[in-house]
Amino acid sequence: MCTLAWWTIASTNPGKIMFSLNKGAYTLELLAEKKEVVIAVPGVELTGALIGCGTCSGRDTDKAAKVGLTMQDIDGTNIKAPVPCKMLIHATVAQTMDADDHVVHLCDVKGVYGDENVDAVYGWKGYAEFAAAQQK
Ligand SMILES: Cc1cc2nc3c(=O)[nH]c(=O)nc-3n(C[C@H](O)[C@H](O)[C@H](O)COP(=O)(O)O)c2cc1C
Repeated sequence: MCTLAWWTIASTNPGKIMFSLNKGAYTLELLAEKKEVVIAVPGVELTGALIGCGTCSGRDTDKAAKVGLTMQDIDGTNIKAPVPCKMLIHATVAQTMDADDHVVHLCDVKGVYGDENVDAVYGWKGYAEFAAAQQK
């Protein structure tokens, strides 16, 4: 699990996403081998977990145990995602592009799952604050 801010939708039909991953990330090695990813948009309850998962490496840390996550199964993949999430995007890596200290990944979307009852967390003020993405 790698906290990832630099991702975006790249195509709507067919669905494609893209993201940029630093060359030091263990996730980069896993992706090179598995070529499969789930972009999980976490609920606001997972704010602490997203900082925790973004400040250590899965190379030497069991992140799920460290930040105390409950994981959920996702249709069509063995990858699990934390609970609660607003949205889960299951995708496979189609192309990569070297971007100096990062690698850009272009991925084909295989499935999208949403939960309207979850408030997504968002990084405000240049990631100085994390709070719900939507004001109510
Ligand atoms: C709020 C936040 C956003 C981040 N966004 C990205 C990102 O878009 N791309 C990236 O390569 N790393 C990003 N990181 C850093 C990775 O999450 C970090 O390198 C992580 O330790 C990699 O874990 P891994 O070695 O298990 O793959 C972010 C970290 C935080 C806290």
